[in-house]
Amino acid sequence: MSVIKNVAVAGAAGDLGTPVLNAIVNSGKFNVTVLVRTAGKATFPSSVKEVEADFTSVSSLTNALKGQDALVSTVGTSGLQGQTLLIDASIAAGVSRFIPSEFGSDLDNPKVGALPVFGYKMAVKKYAEEKASEHPNFSYTNIRNAAFLDWGLEKSFLLDWASGKPRIYDSGDQLLSATTLATVGQAVVGVLLHPEETKNRAVRIHDLSISQNKLLAIAKKISPNRTLEPYHDSTEKIFKGAHDKIAKGDYSPGVLFEFIICSLFGEGYGALHTSEADNKLLGIAGDKSDADIEAILKPLLA
Ligand SMILES: NC(=O)c1ccc[n+]([C@@H]2O[C@H](COP(=O)([O-])OP(=O)(O)OC[C@H]3O[C@@H](n4cnc5c(N)ncnc54)[C@H](OP(=O)(O)O)[C@@H]3O)[C@@H](O)[C@H]2O)c1
Repeated sequence: MSVIKNVAVAGAAGDLGTPVLNAIVNSGKFNVTVLVRTAGKATFPSSVKEVEADFTSVSSLTNALKGQDALVSTVGTSGLQGQTLLIDASIAAGVSRFIPSEFGSDLDNPKVGALPVFGYKMAVKKYAEEKASEHPNFSYTNIRNAAFLDWGLEKSFLLDWASGKPRIYDSGDQLLSATTLATVGQAVVGVLLHPEETKNRAVRIHDLSISQNKLLAIAKKISPNRTLEPYHDSTEKIFKGAHDKIAKGDYSPGVLFEFIICSLFGEGYGALHTSEADNKLLGIAGDKSDADIEAILKPLLA
């Protein structure tokens, strides 16, 4: 397949979109365009072209995507479902590679794929697979990074240091993969530079593997005077509780969040990436350590 030169990013102003856009721009290897709903709302690097599009219209998106080789989507939750339109527009505009906004748990794992929280991501994944088989010039790559490391610590998601009462899932010793936003950006660049090797498949990457008990130990070490009183909760119980609520029609963000917890900390969801093959292919060292975690946590706990 031919070289990717012109790259469009949708969702470039988001938490993940910003570092992904920076990685693509800073690689110096691509002409970069951002697709936005409203021009002028966010500030982008000066070399980036901003194009406004109606994300509910395939023809508007097709016009915006003319001349692009790849489309990277980092849209947030409310934009996930509409990515089928991004796929239709990509095909119409001749875009050869689509990277959907997944960037998390391994949707190929049947336990993950069945979780209600990933309904839209699964629908988009299946749609991309179907369209790639119908249109040989169109292809996709899914990026699976398990948990965001820096974002997950900042938001008290991997370890709730902010409340002082971190919820520890199961034993707290189970390992999961974690990846900084900058490394996810590096993975996106790696995919764009290796279109053939990453065609129509998922790549699995990570900076390190970590447990909650380890994160707790690091937090206690760097902030010995901070009150941290962990309590344990069972992912099986969390799963059942969330399912009972869904059965009663409660699809609130808090309930859906509980399923994300299960996908990362529960048994059998594949949140620990053991093969280093894709790290290597995409130029990711995968050698972050406790010192890197300390560097992220220190300013947060100060
Ligand atoms: N693995 C993990 O630990 C983890 C953690 C968090 C997120 N994620 C995943 O990372 C991806 C990005 O999440 P994020 O937190 O970075 O998202 P975010 O900050 O909420 O992203 C917002 C971006 O998406 C765009 N957007 C939102 N709704 C849209 C719509 N309906 N149509 C078009 N664009 C829309 C926004 O555009 P405007 O500027 O126009 O508003 C903005 O650029 C998601 O797939 C998310 O599930 C993974």
